[in-house]
Amino acid sequence: MASSFSYLTVLYLSYLPLLFQATLGSSDHHTIVLPTTPANHIFKIAIFADLHFGENAWTDWGPEQDVNSMRVMSSVLDNETPDFVVYLGDVITANNIPIANSSLYWDQALSPTRSRGIPWATVFGNHDDAPFEWPIQWFAAPGIPTLLCPVPNSSYSGEDCSFRGTSRLELMKNEMDNNVLSLSRTGPQCLWPAISNYVLPVLSNDKRLVHLYFLDSGGGTYPQVVSATQAKWFKRVSEELNPDSRVPEVIFWHIPSKAYRKVAPIFRIYEPCVGSINKEKVAAQEAEMGIMKILVKRPSVKAVFVGHNHGLDWCCPYRKLWLCFARHTGYGGYGNWARGSRILQINDHPFSISSWIRMEDGSMHSEVILS
Ligand SMILES: *[C@@H]1O[C@H](CO)[C@@H](O)[C@H](O)[C@H]1NC(C)=O
Ligand SMILES: *[C@@H]1O[C@H](CO)[C@@H](O)[C@H](O)[C@H]1NC(C)=O
Repeated sequence: MASSFSYLTVLYLSYLPLLFQATLGSSDHHTIVLPTTPANHIFKIAIFADLHFGENAWTDWGPEQDVNSMRVMSSVLDNETPDFVVYLGDVITANNIPIANSSLYWDQALSPTRSRGIPWATVFGNHDDAPFEWPIQWFAAPGIPTLLCPVPNSSYSGEDCSFRGTSRLELMKNEMDNNVLSLSRTGPQCLWPAISNYVLPVLSNDKRLVHLYFLDSGGGTYPQVVSATQAKWFKRVSEELNPDSRVPEVIFWHIPSKAYRKVAPIFRIYEPCVGSINKEKVAAQEAEMGIMKILVKRPSVKAVFVGHNHGLDWCCPYRKLWLCFARHTGYGGYGNWARGSRILQINDHPFSISSWIRMEDGSMHSEVILS
């Protein structure tokens, strides 16, 4: 096991029922341990991107979209029965949520995964900690606008209406405090205001199968960027945990880096890219501060997964790794492209990483071998 890390929680995944073992320590990350078995392991991850819960929270339309998003997640989880779920940012549209505690919406988005006993990890997008934006329609009537402050399933008292948004730190702490299945972390303090920065080693038959890295790509209350300090942190931790680069590494964050623009197909998706929709320009981070240079230099880094662009779902190779978009999962957020989830499957022996997209209607497409 890695030198300077001890493990707070070791999650042993046995195929139904899940068995937990929590060990106390001074760790800053969890570990997933697959059950010991002579058979090969298949570790399957479903990615839920851009759910945008709480969109137009004050209308009938908004809450209806959340119900629809719950249905998408349930359909994917029942069709794929993944071992793990990644919530890839923009879980909520906080700039539409006029209540004190956005965690109430955040928590709803987690519930289909939680109710099936599947562990998960979350990263932040640019909408999750945004402050409330007053809708202009509210000012159409003369006089003071009527303040509607819906609180899901609780008796609302108007006094705790807040317009500041719920901070990344509060959202993450609430998630971690209330969910044994959450393997999310608030990350080292030296990386703040970026919060969702952590690693999840996955062990299979006493071997490291894969290391999952989660990074906060900013947005909302601070610029959309992976900072130079986060890049240095990734370099240090990945070299410490995996000095000879033997363990494959997979990276998750919300906003595509500028490198995605370099590989983006024009109009139609053609080889070597694989995907089904290419309807937008890549909306990249504001600046590149070193993370991509580090990633392309590490032979063990196999792929980066992002959301943010709802109208893109392709994977394209970039140097020695793959840059992939997830698939828009939520009914919240712009765009009416059919909803789905990118699935990621890691096979133990022989080692491979493959991915495909599972749609709400149960169909699948865009299968690609990433390693
Ligand atoms: C916000 O909601 C979460 C539940 O999702 C709860 O654990 C937390 O205590 C709440 N925070 C406040 C300040 O009410
Ligand atoms: C709120 O209530 C509705 C209907 O009673 C239920 O379907 C939904 O799951 C509840 N949401 C939460 C967060 O409890």
